Amino acid sequence: MQEIYNAIQTAAVKIDYAIKHEDKGYSENQNATGDTQLKLDIQCDKIVEEIFTPITRIKELASEEKEAPHPLYEAGEYLIAYDPLDGSSLADVNLSVGSIFGIYKGDYSGQNLVASAYVVYGPRVEMVTADSDGVTMYRLEPDNTFAFVQEIRLNEKGKLNAPGGTQRYWPPHHKALIESFFEEGYRLRYSGGMVPDLHQILLKGGGIFSYPATTDVPKGKLRMTFEVFPFAFIYECAGGEATDGKGRILDLVPEHIHDTTPCFFGSKEEIKKVRSAYGNR
Ligand code: F6P
Repeated sequence: MQEIYNAIQTAAVKIDYAIKHEDKGYSENQNATGDTQLKLDIQCDKIVEEIFTPITRIKELASEEKEAPHPLYEAGEYLIAYDPLDGSSLADVNLSVGSIFGIYKGDYSGQNLVASAYVVYGPRVEMVTADSDGVTMYRLEPDNTFAFVQEIRLNEKGKLNAPGGTQRYWPPHHKALIESFFEEGYRLRYSGGMVPDLHQILLKGGGIFSYPATTDVPKGKLRMTFEVFPFAFIYECAGGEATDGKGRILDLVPEHIHDTTPCFFGSKEEIKKVRSAYGNR
């Protein structure tokens, strides 16, 4: 796994440079989900692909920016699904963005994830990895190496509430759930970037991030293989939980690589409340 983490670090240094100095305009292409791609999305996708291509342990790469998986080595053991630059339009307003990586064996179902990682590009560049050794955070140093910072562990209950999706399309039980967290004293923390929003909850000990099914996006907005499974794995490894409102996220099996799902990530207490609001105690 270290070889893959090293590759993510190499890619992160280049992506960080691209965010700061390269062309931020729109391209003429759309990705598989119909979003118009920024030139930066395409460039960051190329950076990851180039750096991962020589690694013979990788069987296939699936990118949020590519329609179909890109085969590498038939004998390779890992399938890597990644979002090279999540929340990329936030770079234009100088907010934090991130890269997300899910490392799978066999196929892209939640239970086949063996490790995950993300990188957050903010005032600092940080990488978080999750595997059988736990959840670990590293920070980019001036010499372009990543230094260990800390292990990450969620408390049983947190204080932050990051509610995604368009409020006028939230179903009533979801609206009531979000309100109940605020009534309990939770504070609003939502930047519109999944990586920095989930990173903040992890580092501040806990809370809840939600992106529900709404009348405009009945299957949610966030992609299972590139975004939701990797973070569900990280939250579970950190002592938290992740649900789609019906059951455990990591028990889901996508039919298509670009499938989306409603999702809730949090500490144990908050997810217990989600389960009860969604009718499964
Ligand atoms: O996947 C794209 C993304 O930008 C996520 O990073 C983020 O959590 C979400 O969309 C925000 O969506 P919305 O603006 O609908 O709350």
